[in-house]
Amino acid sequence: MTPPLAHGSRSDVSGVLPVNVALVGYGYWGPNLLRNYMELPGAHVVWVCDTRPEALTKAKARYPAVAATTDLGVVLADESVEAVVIATPISTHHALAKAALEAGKHVFVEKPMTADTAQACELVELAAARGLTLMVGHTFVFSPPVRKVKQIIESGELGDIYFVTTQRVNLGLHQKDVSVIWDLAPHDLSILQYWTEEAPASVSVTGRGCIVPSIPDVAFVSLRFPSGIVAEVQVSWLSPVKLRRTIVVGSHKMLVYDDTENVEKVKVFDHGVDFQEPEDFGEFQLSYRTGDIVAPKLSSTEPLWLEAEHFVHCVRSGETPITDGWAGLRVVAALEAAQASLESGGIETRLAGADSCA
Ligand SMILES: NC(=O)c1ccc[n+]([C@@H]2O[C@H](COP(=O)([O-])OP(=O)(O)OC[C@H]3O[C@@H](n4cnc5c(N)ncnc54)[C@H](O)[C@@H]3O)[C@@H](O)[C@H]2O)c1
Repeated sequence: MTPPLAHGSRSDVSGVLPVNVALVGYGYWGPNLLRNYMELPGAHVVWVCDTRPEALTKAKARYPAVAATTDLGVVLADESVEAVVIATPISTHHALAKAALEAGKHVFVEKPMTADTAQACELVELAAARGLTLMVGHTFVFSPPVRKVKQIIESGELGDIYFVTTQRVNLGLHQKDVSVIWDLAPHDLSILQYWTEEAPASVSVTGRGCIVPSIPDVAFVSLRFPSGIVAEVQVSWLSPVKLRRTIVVGSHKMLVYDDTENVEKVKVFDHGVDFQEPEDFGEFQLSYRTGDIVAPKLSSTEPLWLEAEHFVHCVRSGETPITDGWAGLRVVAALEAAQASLESGGIETRLAGADSCA
């Protein structure tokens, strides 16, 4: 199809030239990325690439000015393309991202970054060696409620974090090539990593494939963090109701983040239990506190917009993305350990330090 024109003279209001972007993968998620990159002043979408011609027909119907191709080679050979945004199935992430980095393009790749840690390490090292931006689509890290919870945790309002529980269940689309762990748990693992600023030390998982025996569609993922925080992540494609609820319990206050709520997605509860040492040889005392419940005001900006904005900003400035290749690698390491635990019948699996690829 028609190759794109050069766009050297375009610039957004800030005077910074927009980043020329190509989107690879226009299935379920790709259209959401394309919509945001099309509207973002800091980006200019040059190509859409998908191996299915019918996907390209849809993209062209929506955005006639964007060039479309089934051939990634054409995209990578186009010198005007600076960055490639990959929204294809997980099994293809490594090969596509590697080809793009080798062609000198900055890469945004959807979550999870790769299908295993060896592949993730290769991409991290390749991006570093070439001085290119590598960012992973951990969208929730850009979501205003998740950002607000991070602020609340950092302010010390909750006290020391004891534990976190999350539920991410609904009657979801069964994936054909990956379990519910690889499909949904990346969201919670990336959120936990962002909030706690640490990677889990160990993971144990119970789950089963209820509909397709070889593909687990429900899993209970238990995590221990080096600081002592424990977490349980419940993920499933089989549930009569959609739940997107996280509870964070701290030594001072507790918090509920419910992403299905329209307005009050985050509520901070001034609730707690205080332990008092016995003054003599008597029994210890517990005092229960149920105080105010506060719902902080949240920005309504779309997380995908913020994510896309962050990517083009990092490409232009050379800053390291919040969800960089290392962050993506740590999530893949946790998923890999979760998979191993599930396959071993729930044995607690320790994570090898995912901060080095040696
Ligand atoms: N960040 C989020 O919240 C979020 C949400 C949903 C999906 N995702 C991620 O997005 C990615 C895609 O998921 P999806 O549900 O859109 O999958 P999908 O199967 O619906 O779409 C993938 C598209 O990629 C195309 N494709 C496959 N191999 C290709 C190749 N080699 N070159 C070009 N195109 C190719 C397919 O033809 C298809 O159109 C996955 O990594 C998934 O985890 C992220």
